[in-house]
Amino acid sequence: MTMTTTTAQAAHGRRAPGPRGVPLLGSLPQWKGATAEFLLRTQRDHGEVSRIQLGPQTVHLVTAPDAVGRVLKENSGNYVRGTLYEQFRTVMGNGLLTTDGDYWKAHRRAVQPVFLRKAVAAIEPNVVRATNEMLDDWEVRARRGEPVDLVTETLRLTLVTLSNSLFGYDIRPATPVLKDVVNNVIEVMFKHGTVGEMLPSWLPTRRNRLIARDCRIFTRLVTDIRANHAVTGEGRLMELIEAATDPVTGERWSDDEVRDEILTIYLAGHETTAVSLLWTLLSIANHPGVQEELDAELDGVLGGRTPTAQDVEELTYTKQVVDESLRMYPPIWIYPRDTVDADELGGFHIPARSSVLLSPFVSHRNPHYWENPEAFDPHRFDPQKAKERPKMAYFPFGAGARMCIGNFMALLELRMIVAMINQRFRLSLVPGSFLRYGDTSISLRPVSEVLVLPRPRTTGERP
Ligand code: HEM
Repeated sequence: MTMTTTTAQAAHGRRAPGPRGVPLLGSLPQWKGATAEFLLRTQRDHGEVSRIQLGPQTVHLVTAPDAVGRVLKENSGNYVRGTLYEQFRTVMGNGLLTTDGDYWKAHRRAVQPVFLRKAVAAIEPNVVRATNEMLDDWEVRARRGEPVDLVTETLRLTLVTLSNSLFGYDIRPATPVLKDVVNNVIEVMFKHGTVGEMLPSWLPTRRNRLIARDCRIFTRLVTDIRANHAVTGEGRLMELIEAATDPVTGERWSDDEVRDEILTIYLAGHETTAVSLLWTLLSIANHPGVQEELDAELDGVLGGRTPTAQDVEELTYTKQVVDESLRMYPPIWIYPRDTVDADELGGFHIPARSSVLLSPFVSHRNPHYWENPEAFDPHRFDPQKAKERPKMAYFPFGAGARMCIGNFMALLELRMIVAMINQRFRLSLVPGSFLRYGDTSISLRPVSEVLVLPRPRTTGERP
């Protein structure tokens, strides 16, 4: 990479302010505690580009919209996956999420067609079938007065939908085993700064044994998915993956390339959507005014029929509810980049080969751009208000060339499911349930199960 004029000049920028920390460890103790709260405090006390010492490692937290745009778009070539993505590679290998350069570009190009805005409408029947199956079960459980665990339900729903839509594979029998495995790997992918993470992978520690077990389960699953496709020919993404070739050698992707890409899509695609769905449903349940406005739109536009992908375009308030939930609870709440050359962000010097942290969670709660940021208010996304904000104050799916490939799919799925659930049910948290997001994991999932009571809408509430 050649140093651009801007990055060369940046070597003289000012040192960013940041929390003082303690000798040797820096701010590692705060990082390990409540990470999200610590980062919010850092933004409040030290500004939108701040310097944090985590043991021997210096990282910069970057939340200023212009600076976020520079990292993800204008100067994105200078910001690569780097060291903090190592944890991801342990599980996902070399897939879209963990690679850079020509390898990444060729892979992204190969699978992109199924993720285009027009193409994702094809998921519609799978969303409807899987959601109705879940809601029919809720109906039975509601009659018995039984609560449901929203974490399990949303994970299962999005996994089944994704698997059928992209891979033509019925994953339902594997969901009980996968739940545990996915929980574990999501945890592994976040750098906690523990000794266990620093030990070599061949040591038979508990952590390493669990990772090895999970990888074996995933590899068996991929073998099964490929065998199923070979017989049925189902799954548009599988078609693309099995036919993909290396642009230089013209050879088919190796088994490892295929495995890593399938796993990446499964892992990046279903848990994120599930976490987002969960927070959206809970936010609606906790805000009667939002529930009322949502009901009015659903009843007015749909009049009781199941939404199609086309209908979703007209569900403007439903869209805003989902957008607001992605603001307050962005499932990928933090992600890193490493610099190649030095740069300047917000007037501050960012050294070469250092790490930068972007956090939609922290940016989305910056009071400079979001009035009363802790309040759930879908009307922030009224078109006029949205126009007044800097574009990069909101980036739940990232931005630029590395923007989430599944963003159209996720948004369509979320809007359809939110509409379908609210057409049929009211949810209320079981009294005494403990609800907190876990911020020591790569995704903003709740720390424990979330028990809710689904109650069918009564006749009066029905359209
Ligand atoms: C609400 C749901 C989702 C959220 C919030 C989300 C968020 C993100 C974010 C923030 C990134 C960028 C990470 C970075 O730049 O380091 C990303 C990348 C990615 N996402 Fe998503 N995602 C969601 C759903 C999905 C779905 C449904 C799929 C696939 C079916 C998917 C597949 C991917 C892949 C493969 C990448 C890597 C793209 C690349 O670098 O080329 N995501 N996602």
